[in-house]
Amino acid sequence: MNDMTVSLIVAVSENGVIGRAGGLPWRLSSDLKTFRRLTMDKPIVMGRKTFQSIGKPLDGRDNIVVTRDPTFEAPGISTCESVADALTLARVLAKTRGAEEIMVIGGAEVYERAFSVADRIYLTRVHAEVEGDRHFAPLDAAEWRETSREALPQGPKDDHASTLFVYDRQKQDA
Ligand SMILES: NC(=O)c1ccc[n+]([C@@H]2O[C@H](COP(=O)([O-])OP(=O)(O)OC[C@H]3O[C@@H](n4cnc5c(N)ncnc54)[C@H](OP(=O)(O)O)[C@@H]3O)[C@@H](O)[C@H]2O)c1
Repeated sequence: MNDMTVSLIVAVSENGVIGRAGGLPWRLSSDLKTFRRLTMDKPIVMGRKTFQSIGKPLDGRDNIVVTRDPTFEAPGISTCESVADALTLARVLAKTRGAEEIMVIGGAEVYERAFSVADRIYLTRVHAEVEGDRHFAPLDAAEWRETSREALPQGPKDDHASTLFVYDRQKQDA
Protein backbone atom coordinates (compact mmCIF):
# COMPACT_ATOMS: atom_id res chain seq x y z
CA MET A 1 0.00 0.00 0.00
CA ASN A 2 1.32 3.41 -1.00
CA ASP A 3 0.41 6.04 1.59
CA MET A 4 2.66 8.83 0.27
CA THR A 5 1.20 11.51 -2.01
CA VAL A 6 3.48 12.70 -4.81
CA SER A 7 2.51 16.24 -5.82
CA LEU A 8 3.72 18.62 -8.49
CA ILE A 9 3.54 22.31 -7.67
CA VAL A 10 3.77 24.70 -10.60
CA ALA A 11 2.81 28.20 -11.70
CA VAL A 12 1.69 28.39 -15.34
CA SER A 13 0.67 31.33 -17.53
CA GLU A 14 -2.51 31.22 -19.63
CA ASN A 15 -0.34 30.20 -22.60
CA GLY A 16 1.48 27.40 -20.76
CA VAL A 17 4.74 29.19 -19.90
CA ILE A 18 6.57 28.40 -16.63
CA GLY A 19 10.06 29.83 -17.20
CA ARG A 20 12.22 32.20 -19.20
CA ALA A 21 16.01 32.43 -19.49
CA GLY A 22 16.57 30.24 -16.44
CA GLY A 23 14.20 32.15 -14.18
CA LEU A 24 10.54 32.94 -13.61
CA PRO A 25 8.88 35.31 -16.08
CA TRP A 26 6.98 37.20 -13.35
CA ARG A 27 7.14 38.51 -9.83
CA LEU A 28 4.34 36.95 -7.79
CA SER A 29 4.65 37.39 -4.05
CA SER A 30 1.19 35.84 -3.41
CA ASP A 31 2.19 32.66 -5.21
CA LEU A 32 5.54 32.46 -3.40
CA LYS A 33 3.69 32.63 -0.09
CA THR A 34 1.36 29.85 -1.22
CA PHE A 35 4.36 27.82 -2.41
CA ARG A 36 6.04 28.22 0.98
CA ARG A 37 2.91 27.16 2.88
CA LEU A 38 2.31 24.11 0.69
CA THR A 39 5.92 22.87 0.66
CA MET A 40 6.92 23.62 4.27
CA ASP A 41 8.05 20.62 6.39
CA LYS A 42 8.09 18.31 3.34
CA PRO A 43 10.75 16.95 0.99
CA ILE A 44 11.07 18.98 -2.21
CA VAL A 45 12.47 17.49 -5.42
CA MET A 46 13.92 19.80 -8.08
CA GLY A 47 16.14 19.83 -11.15
CA ARG A 48 19.68 21.18 -10.93
CA LYS A 49 18.75 24.23 -13.03
CA THR A 50 15.84 25.14 -10.76
CA PHE A 51 18.07 24.75 -7.71
CA GLN A 52 20.63 27.08 -9.24
CA SER A 53 17.98 29.62 -10.19
CA ILE A 54 16.73 29.66 -6.57
CA GLY A 55 20.36 29.94 -5.49
CA LYS A 56 20.11 28.35 -2.06
CA PRO A 57 18.38 25.51 -0.23
CA LEU A 58 14.85 26.35 0.95
CA ASP A 59 14.52 26.38 4.73
CA GLY A 60 12.35 23.93 6.64
CA ARG A 61 12.28 21.42 3.78
CA ASP A 62 14.46 18.49 2.63
CA ASN A 63 16.05 19.79 -0.58
CA ILE A 64 16.67 17.01 -3.11
CA VAL A 65 18.35 18.03 -6.37
CA VAL A 66 18.37 15.81 -9.46
CA THR A 67 21.51 15.96 -11.61
CA ARG A 68 23.38 13.61 -13.91
CA ASP A 69 26.63 15.14 -12.65
CA PRO A 70 27.94 12.87 -9.87
CA THR A 71 30.32 15.61 -8.69
CA PHE A 72 27.60 18.22 -8.16
CA GLU A 73 27.18 19.23 -4.54
CA ALA A 74 26.15 22.22 -2.47
CA PRO A 75 25.57 22.82 1.23
CA GLY A 76 22.12 21.89 2.52
CA ILE A 77 21.02 19.63 -0.33
CA SER A 78 21.01 15.94 -1.22
CA THR A 79 21.65 14.98 -4.83
CA CYS A 80 20.27 12.05 -6.86
CA GLU A 81 21.13 10.92 -10.37
CA SER A 82 17.55 10.13 -11.41
CA VAL A 83 14.06 11.34 -10.59
CA ALA A 84 13.16 7.81 -9.43
CA ASP A 85 16.06 7.82 -6.94
CA ALA A 86 15.04 11.30 -5.78
CA LEU A 87 11.48 10.12 -5.10
CA THR A 88 12.78 7.08 -3.22
CA LEU A 89 14.96 9.30 -1.03
CA ALA A 90 12.06 11.74 -0.60
CA ARG A 91 9.83 8.92 0.69
CA VAL A 92 12.42 7.98 3.32
CA LEU A 93 12.90 11.60 4.40
CA ALA A 94 9.14 12.22 4.48
CA LYS A 95 8.60 9.22 6.73
CA THR A 96 11.43 10.41 8.99
CA ARG A 97 9.81 13.80 9.47
CA GLY A 98 6.23 12.48 9.54
CA ALA A 99 5.20 14.12 6.26
CA GLU A 100 2.65 12.44 3.98
CA GLU A 101 3.43 14.36 0.82
CA ILE A 102 6.43 14.80 -1.47
CA MET A 103 6.56 18.03 -3.48
CA VAL A 104 8.09 18.10 -6.95
CA ILE A 105 8.89 21.77 -7.57
CA GLY A 106 10.22 21.71 -11.15
CA GLY A 107 11.48 22.70 -13.60
CA ALA A 108 10.06 21.56 -16.90
CA GLU A 109 12.36 18.55 -17.35
CA VAL A 110 11.71 17.22 -13.84
CA TYR A 111 7.93 17.79 -14.07
CA GLU A 112 7.90 15.74 -17.27
CA ARG A 113 9.79 12.90 -15.61
CA ALA A 114 7.65 12.89 -12.46
CA PHE A 115 4.30 13.45 -14.18
CA SER A 116 3.41 9.77 -14.59
CA VAL A 117 3.76 9.06 -10.85
CA ALA A 118 2.10 12.25 -9.60
CA ASP A 119 -1.11 11.92 -7.58
CA ARG A 120 -1.82 15.64 -7.25
CA ILE A 121 -0.97 18.92 -8.99
CA TYR A 122 -1.08 22.32 -7.30
CA LEU A 123 -1.34 24.58 -10.31
CA THR A 124 -1.28 28.33 -9.99
CA ARG A 125 -2.78 29.73 -13.17
CA VAL A 126 -1.15 33.09 -13.77
CA HIS A 127 -3.69 35.25 -15.55
CA ALA A 128 -1.39 36.61 -18.24
CA GLU A 129 0.05 35.62 -21.60
CA VAL A 130 3.84 35.76 -21.33
CA GLU A 131 6.80 34.80 -23.46
CA GLY A 132 9.05 32.02 -22.25
CA ASP A 133 11.16 29.00 -23.09
CA ARG A 134 9.85 26.41 -20.60
CA HIS A 135 6.30 25.09 -20.66
CA PHE A 136 3.88 22.86 -18.77
CA ALA A 137 1.56 20.78 -20.93
CA PRO A 138 -2.22 21.22 -20.56
CA LEU A 139 -3.84 18.64 -18.25
CA ASP A 140 -6.11 15.97 -19.67
CA ALA A 141 -9.52 16.52 -18.07
CA ALA A 142 -10.23 12.77 -18.25
CA GLU A 143 -7.17 12.12 -16.10
CA TRP A 144 -7.31 14.99 -13.58
CA ARG A 145 -10.20 16.17 -11.42
CA GLU A 146 -10.25 19.70 -10.04
CA THR A 147 -10.73 19.38 -6.27
CA SER A 148 -10.36 23.01 -5.21
CA ARG A 149 -9.62 26.50 -6.44
CA GLU A 150 -8.68 29.68 -4.65
CA ALA A 151 -8.34 33.14 -6.17
CA LEU A 152 -5.02 34.85 -5.47
CA PRO A 153 -5.91 38.50 -6.17
CA GLN A 154 -3.19 40.77 -7.50
CA GLY A 155 -1.48 42.49 -4.58
CA PRO A 156 1.10 45.30 -4.69
CA LYS A 157 3.94 42.77 -5.10
CA ASP A 158 2.26 40.75 -7.86
CA ASP A 159 2.67 41.32 -11.59
CA HIS A 160 -0.61 39.50 -12.26
CA ALA A 161 -3.68 38.04 -10.59
CA SER A 162 -3.69 34.25 -10.37
CA THR A 163 -5.78 31.29 -9.21
CA LEU A 164 -4.54 28.26 -7.31
CA PHE A 165 -6.15 25.05 -8.62
CA VAL A 166 -5.70 21.64 -7.03
CA TYR A 167 -6.09 18.62 -9.30
CA ASP A 168 -6.16 15.01 -8.14
CA ARG A 169 -5.53 12.11 -10.46
CA GLN A 170 -8.76 10.29 -11.26
CA LYS A 171 -8.72 6.85 -9.70
CA GLN A 172 -9.03 4.04 -12.23
CA ASP A 173 -11.99 1.68 -11.68
CA ALA A 174 -10.81 -1.62 -10.29
N1 LIG B 1 6.72 28.35 -12.90
C1 LIG B 1 7.14 27.41 -12.07
O1 LIG B 1 6.35 26.93 -11.24
C2 LIG B 1 8.55 26.93 -12.12
C3 LIG B 1 9.00 26.00 -11.19
C4 LIG B 1 10.32 25.55 -11.27
C5 LIG B 1 11.15 26.04 -12.28
N2 LIG B 1 10.66 26.92 -13.18
C6 LIG B 1 11.48 27.43 -14.29
O2 LIG B 1 11.81 26.32 -15.13
C7 LIG B 1 13.11 26.57 -15.70
C8 LIG B 1 14.03 25.39 -15.36
O3 LIG B 1 13.50 24.20 -15.91
P1 LIG B 1 14.40 23.23 -16.81
O4 LIG B 1 13.50 22.22 -17.43
O5 LIG B 1 15.25 24.06 -17.71
O6 LIG B 1 15.41 22.61 -15.75
P2 LIG B 1 15.22 21.71 -14.43
O7 LIG B 1 14.17 20.67 -14.66
O8 LIG B 1 15.07 22.60 -13.25
O9 LIG B 1 16.65 21.07 -14.32
C9 LIG B 1 17.15 20.29 -15.39
C10 LIG B 1 18.36 19.57 -14.91
O10 LIG B 1 17.99 18.62 -13.91
C11 LIG B 1 18.73 17.43 -14.11
N3 LIG B 1 17.80 16.40 -14.54
C12 LIG B 1 16.59 16.55 -15.12
N4 LIG B 1 16.02 15.36 -15.37
C13 LIG B 1 16.89 14.43 -14.94
C14 LIG B 1 16.85 13.02 -14.91
N5 LIG B 1 15.79 12.34 -15.38
N6 LIG B 1 17.90 12.35 -14.40
C15 LIG B 1 18.97 13.04 -13.90
N7 LIG B 1 19.05 14.41 -13.90
C16 LIG B 1 18.02 15.07 -14.41
C17 LIG B 1 19.77 17.74 -15.15
O11 LIG B 1 20.85 18.32 -14.43
P3 LIG B 1 22.38 18.27 -14.95
O12 LIG B 1 22.42 19.10 -16.18
O13 LIG B 1 23.15 18.83 -13.79
O14 LIG B 1 22.70 16.81 -15.19
C18 LIG B 1 19.06 18.77 -16.00
O15 LIG B 1 19.93 19.59 -16.76
C19 LIG B 1 13.60 27.88 -15.12
O16 LIG B 1 13.25 28.92 -16.02
C20 LIG B 1 12.81 28.00 -13.84
O17 LIG B 1 12.67 29.34 -13.40
C21 LIG B 1 9.38 27.38 -13.12
